[in-house]
Amino acid sequence: MYLLNDEQKMFVEQMRKMVAEKVAPRAAEIDKAGEFPWDLKEIFQEMGLLGLSVPQEFGGTSQGHIYVCLAVEEIARACVSSSLIVQVQSLGWEPILIGGNEAQKKKYGPRVSSGEALTAFGLTEAGAGSDAAAMRTKAVKKGDKYIINGSKCFISNGPLADVVTLFAMTDSSQGVKGISAFIVEKDFPGYAVAKWESKMGIKGSPTGELVFEDMEVPAENLIGAEGKGFIYAMKTLDTSRPVIASQAVGLAQGALDLAVKYAKERVQFGRPIGQFQGISWMLADMAAQIESARALTYQAADMVDSLDPRRTYMSACCKLIASDVAMRVTTDALQIAGGYGYMTEYPFERMMRDAKITQIYEGTNQIQKLVIGRELLK
Ligand code: CAA
Repeated sequence: MYLLNDEQKMFVEQMRKMVAEKVAPRAAEIDKAGEFPWDLKEIFQEMGLLGLSVPQEFGGTSQGHIYVCLAVEEIARACVSSSLIVQVQSLGWEPILIGGNEAQKKKYGPRVSSGEALTAFGLTEAGAGSDAAAMRTKAVKKGDKYIINGSKCFISNGPLADVVTLFAMTDSSQGVKGISAFIVEKDFPGYAVAKWESKMGIKGSPTGELVFEDMEVPAENLIGAEGKGFIYAMKTLDTSRPVIASQAVGLAQGALDLAVKYAKERVQFGRPIGQFQGISWMLADMAAQIESARALTYQAADMVDSLDPRRTYMSACCKLIASDVAMRVTTDALQIAGGYGYMTEYPFERMMRDAKITQIYEGTNQIQKLVIGRELLK
């Protein structure tokens, strides 16, 4: 909280209260049932959390990405699946914010912020993950429509999304400069949800495959200009990688809180295990890593909101560091809890499963290193 202003601190306090009362008691059952928490989505929308990055004139609160980060961090402390509701809503909206025209923002901004429409970000394909530009989904203009054929996989919120920002090739001879972005609605003819994925973690956040067969998209739903889609996608990821880093920081903090509590309560060899240096040094390492990841993440989020030219570099740095911290900290927290940590009755194993995805989505950490290296050498 040290790096935050008074208004941001107040927001975090509100979030903490809501998370303790509403999210934390639901986290284990959301994971077990593998169901989207509609009740929590309602609470988040009532608090305005679905429109934090939507400008006021388009129905949101204009608070910016730092607030998306703060909200996601606090929710992820208790439940990563639930934090994805806020995260993906911002991600799916972002290409419209970056490249969309006034009419598109007016049409979709209020639907996104009010929670009337859930969003998704349709970039990844079976053969185009890290190499996002290798996509094969094609859009062909016919009169006042684009006809889109192809599919997208591993789409967070995909099975439930009402509105998807979708990337497709309008001119494959141009490579990345032939990719365009579209706003697609689930009831457009030719749109189908082909699969719900079964996953290791984030089980309460639906992930799925979308298929488009001669899907008709009104030409007015093209975002910006043809050929600009890849740039919008990359700029979107610059804004959303700090949000994933916040998710990782929140998750790691939640695991540390539980590990500290356990180390104070668990007595072995006649004293609480936290009094053994082997354990207290583990806790110290976990805390120090979290503090540095959090500071880096807030700095990156601030750079995103102020359009700092170093934001691509810093977004990749914070996502790389924070997700590795989440993986290490949740693994160590489970280790401290020993046999209890391995049991599904306790939250440690869920947290460790959930941590893994933060090293993979929004670009694997190997891709973050590629981005950082390229920025350094530019
Ligand atoms: N901002 C603006 N422009 C950018 C940019 C950025 N951050 N990054 C790249 N560009 C521009 C480049 O300048 C270049 O334009 P010029 O040719 O005019 O200079 C153009 O885009 C192509 O860039 P590259 O040559 O760097 O493209 P590349 O094909 O080598 O790939 C990549 C770049 C960084 C590897 C990219 O493909 C990438 O980020 N891959 C990872 C994909 C990813 O993160 N997927 C996540 C899916 S969403 C998700 O996971 C969400 C979820 O579930 C919650």
